[in-house]
Amino acid sequence: MSDGHLPPALATGRLLLPPLAIQDADAIQRVFPQWEVVRFLADQVPWPYPPDGARVYLEQVAIPAMRQGTQWHWSIRTRAEPDVLIGIVSLMDDDTGNNRGFWLDPAHHGKGYMTEASEAATAYWFEVLGKPVLRAPKAVANTASRNISRRGGMRLVGTEERGYVSGRLPTEIWEITREEWIARHPRPPASA
Ligand SMILES: CC(C)(COP(=O)(O)OP(=O)(O)OC[C@H]1O[C@@H](n2cnc3c(N)ncnc32)[C@H](O)[C@@H]1OP(=O)(O)O)[C@@H](O)C(=O)NCCC(=O)NCCS
Repeated sequence: MSDGHLPPALATGRLLLPPLAIQDADAIQRVFPQWEVVRFLADQVPWPYPPDGARVYLEQVAIPAMRQGTQWHWSIRTRAEPDVLIGIVSLMDDDTGNNRGFWLDPAHHGKGYMTEASEAATAYWFEVLGKPVLRAPKAVANTASRNISRRGGMRLVGTEERGYVSGRLPTEIWEITREEWIARHPRPPASA
């Protein structure tokens, strides 16, 4: 099948974000199945994580959805160690109210990496894909993730309960519109 729908690699000041590929399965399988990573992720994540969980996710979920043009996934690597996968950032257009997701190796938490990676993915959502609004649910207990929403200019638009790997939890729905994004990231006019 053609890879014509795979997204391009993105880059930020400190990070390289190549599109997720089947070759990433072993690295994901090593890093992802940690309670600190999965506890506030949606309960579609199988837990305990099976030994072939990463390969099955890539082959049956992420890569087919990228080829269909309904999801966009990037692995996260530092420019300092470009061969080492430290997380994933994803955009989804096939799940109402849940357009962006991310996780990072706990060894790299608290360095602002996801603030950087999620900004790059959000720019792709609005500026390349041209979507009108981005919504993301967050467990109220997930302080780090809620801080990323707040710092990225998102607004709290609702509360509900959702199922996570750690059970059903109070949840906030965060939102930013394309107009709000563009107002926060003005581009210089193209020169004539
Ligand atoms: C959420 C997650 C991606 C944040 O990544 P990160 O790179 O550590 O985040 P950043 O360093 O960019 O920091 C984001 C903010 O949260 C704060 N923060 C980071 N880790 C935190 C923690 N464990 N507890 C409380 N606040 C934390 C940072 O200080 C920062 O706040 P600020 O904007 O006020 O400075 C990471 O914690 C993670 O992978 N968690 C598990 C997966 C997950 O829950 N994903 C989100 C599902 S909605």
